Amino acid sequence: MIGIVGGTHILEIDVLSDVEEKKIETPFGVAEVDMGRIDGVDVAIIQRHGKKKDRPPHRINHAANFYALKSLGVNHVIGMGSVGCLKEEYSLPSLIVPDDYIDFFSGVTLYNDSLIHITPGFDEYLRDVLVRTARKISSFPVIDGGVYFQTRGPRLETKAEIAMIKNFADCVGMTAGSEATIAKELGLSYAVICTMDNYAHGIKNEVVDYKEIVRKARENAEECLRIVGEAVKRVWEEKF
Ligand code: HPA
Repeated sequence: MIGIVGGTHILEIDVLSDVEEKKIETPFGVAEVDMGRIDGVDVAIIQRHGKKKDRPPHRINHAANFYALKSLGVNHVIGMGSVGCLKEEYSLPSLIVPDDYIDFFSGVTLYNDSLIHITPGFDEYLRDVLVRTARKISSFPVIDGGVYFQTRGPRLETKAEIAMIKNFADCVGMTAGSEATIAKELGLSYAVICTMDNYAHGIKNEVVDYKEIVRKARENAEECLRIVGEAVKRVWEEKF
């Protein structure tokens, strides 16, 4: 089965038909999962900020979320996220499907009590599907590859932090690095498609405000979901 983990984008949008809401117990805690169908394809969806929208990025239980997906038979997971843009030359809104990430701060892992060291990275097949699909059906510019810099959150970054990290990454967010790590530790394929909804703090001469970011993310959500819906169908056809 295919899993989708969404954030701000899917909080307000009904994407599934025949929904069954589940609470899955895992060794790491309980995860809330919606099982249903997108255009006839079975999917399991997790809202990473929780159904009550009260889970800030640094308190998301990625281990429970991905463990729950795996226990339901999910093997491919598509993430959706909103990110800040670190490149002045990109026009917004754009879509980015990063091919690497930096996550120095989350410390997220399943392996606190054993000596296991995965080699991190996004899944190239899922990345390719997301890029192909986005290029085919979306009018937004699509950036194939690039580095996702994960901050711990929940606060936005200082100008000095952005001035430093923009030299090493293309976009900044608070979740995809952790999700990629946990997915890899569980042997799940994972890639993420992000809408670049704002320029990160200090990239342009404009104020960065969380409410404004959420407003833009919601505006761009339909486009992202349309792509993920199509991508899910492709993965289903090609892999199942
Ligand atoms: N910084 C961190 N996370 C984000 C941003 C940002 O500017 N925009 C959307 N998610």
